[in-house]
Amino acid sequence: MKKFIDPFAYAPQILKALKKGVLLTVKDGQQVNTMTIGWAHLGIEWSTPTFIAYVRGCRHTKPMLDKACEFTVNIPVGEVDANILKICGTRSGRDMDKIAQLGLTLEEPEVIHTPGIKELPLTLECRVIYRQQQTPACVLDDHVYTHYQKDCPDIEQDYHTAYYGQILSAYIIE
Ligand SMILES: Cc1cc2nc3c(=O)[nH]c(=O)nc-3n(C[C@H](O)[C@H](O)[C@H](O)COP(=O)(O)O)c2cc1C
Repeated sequence: MKKFIDPFAYAPQILKALKKGVLLTVKDGQQVNTMTIGWAHLGIEWSTPTFIAYVRGCRHTKPMLDKACEFTVNIPVGEVDANILKICGTRSGRDMDKIAQLGLTLEEPEVIHTPGIKELPLTLECRVIYRQQQTPACVLDDHVYTHYQKDCPDIEQDYHTAYYGQILSAYIIE
């Protein structure tokens, strides 16, 4: 069962959850992959409720997202097993099926094709309506560079892409 909600009424919970991490789930064909995200914005653009997620170039999620053009955001309500956010934030879908190995329960979506995850029941179904690759040429503060000099040989390639997800449905899986 789903309890449908106004996502903005839950903005404090969503923003607080981002500090520890939420999941971004994407589906390409039969493959469902999920990753932990901590950088995001909830707001309005083009007169529509929008969730913007920032995904680095090297994530397995990125080509899936570019193809699917939709995603769900899966947000804990109350306590969540910290191991889920840890594994989904450190292991890649390239190397393991995180959903199967963590025993996560997929929930049929309402509007898009990407499922939600019952263990993180506050769900946003999002359709990508705009995406923008961030680039070193636009950086105005040195602090930004410090996030791009660690593990990627091609720094420009590893900059984040902002995915503007129009929130088409929001609910809590009960
Ligand atoms: C708390 C936390 C927050 C994270 N936030 C982001 C984020 O906002 N964007 C991003 O690209 N990676 C982020 N990551 C890293 C990815 O979750 C991690 O690299 C993951 O293994 C990628 O999975 P994939 O290769 O299956 O896409 C975060 C990791 C953690 C632990």
